[in-house]
Amino acid sequence: MARTNPNFKNLSKNYLFSETDKRVKLYLAVHPRAKIFNLGVGNTTEPIVHAVIKGLKSKVRELSKRETYTGYGDSAGDVKLRESLSKWYGKRGVEISPSEIFISDGAKSDCANISSIFAPDSRVAICDPVYPVYRDANLIAGKKLIYLAAKEENGFFPSLPEEKVDLIFLCSPNNPTGATAKASQLREFVDYAQENKALIIFDAAYSEYIQEKNLPKSIYQIEGSRKCAIEIQSLSKSAGFTGIRLGWTIVPNDLITEDASGEGEINRLWRRRQSTMFNGASNIAQEGGLAVFSEAGQKETRKQIKYYLENANLIKEGLERLKLKVFGGVNAPYLWAKCPRNLSSWEFFDKLLKEAQVISTPGAGFGICGEGYVRFSAFGRRKEIKAGIKSLKENLRRGL
Ligand SMILES: Cc1ncc(COP(=O)(O)O)c(C=O)c1O
Repeated sequence: MARTNPNFKNLSKNYLFSETDKRVKLYLAVHPRAKIFNLGVGNTTEPIVHAVIKGLKSKVRELSKRETYTGYGDSAGDVKLRESLSKWYGKRGVEISPSEIFISDGAKSDCANISSIFAPDSRVAICDPVYPVYRDANLIAGKKLIYLAAKEENGFFPSLPEEKVDLIFLCSPNNPTGATAKASQLREFVDYAQENKALIIFDAAYSEYIQEKNLPKSIYQIEGSRKCAIEIQSLSKSAGFTGIRLGWTIVPNDLITEDASGEGEINRLWRRRQSTMFNGASNIAQEGGLAVFSEAGQKETRKQIKYYLENANLIKEGLERLKLKVFGGVNAPYLWAKCPRNLSSWEFFDKLLKEAQVISTPGAGFGICGEGYVRFSAFGRRKEIKAGIKSLKENLRRGL
């Protein structure tokens, strides 16, 4: 008799964004003429830059001719793209060989799948608040979760686990808090991982938003991390690939666990997992990815990132003018605002929606420590962001 995976019962009932959508729809049903300003969306809105469009088109053209058509490729990804990524890391002082890079269809699936190569009874540390994928994927897999509180008093970067853990998920710049880890903070985790033979899964999906020179963009900028860290990356937010889909995961050959001594053992496991369960990223997407790392692609995507960061700054200034306490939004596209007068996340979400027609994302949806905060995102269109801020200024009433 077939039985369902009982671990699904451990997930929260509603996906966060279905609940926010539901509340917006309900509001619109009563106020059908209301103009809504979405300052919560984590989806990109700017078009793909010219250099990347050129790359995508060139692959489409190749696919249209018998002589240049290609089907399945290497499930670890096109070697040209992996070589170009290896050079890109080299420019930031990080040595990664193409054989340590696995091209994916985006970071989300790798964030969810990576735990599968580690022991089923692994103890997994995740931050609270957290990008929900690490939490839910590990719950579905039946792994034990240990929450590391990321609060205002620790700059929204967690302290080391008090108990022994096996895997630690870290994300910097952070979704949802917009906090960016300093090298010294990552150093502590790398030391912990080395002492405890634990592994760090470092999600660097927002690394290109880091503008300050001394903040690390890759965990591999921390000495010793090749022995204890896997890095997951994405072109979704740095080049608008949310719909095209492309990312990569780095599994260094030096990784050590209690039962793997380096020499590529973990790398081989991930290769086995991917070649069994994944047939490679789209070749069109990979050609687009290659164009992202061309000189023109880097220049044009940097400009786009600046645009989103300017959006972040407009939101930050707008919220601060309303006397709200705001974190993040400097080296990150997300802003984390403290709810006024002890309102809960959902109460403040409703207030913003009903009084100013502004959509935010309730912090409580990212974990217990997210209660009392809402997240704003810089990925909206400039015009909508400006109009949303204006509406907040003109319509948000003091008190409840
Ligand atoms: C922290 C973090 N990691 C990974 C992802 C997923 O990225 P992708 O679109 O590459 O699957 C997101 C998307 O919002 C994210 O916020």
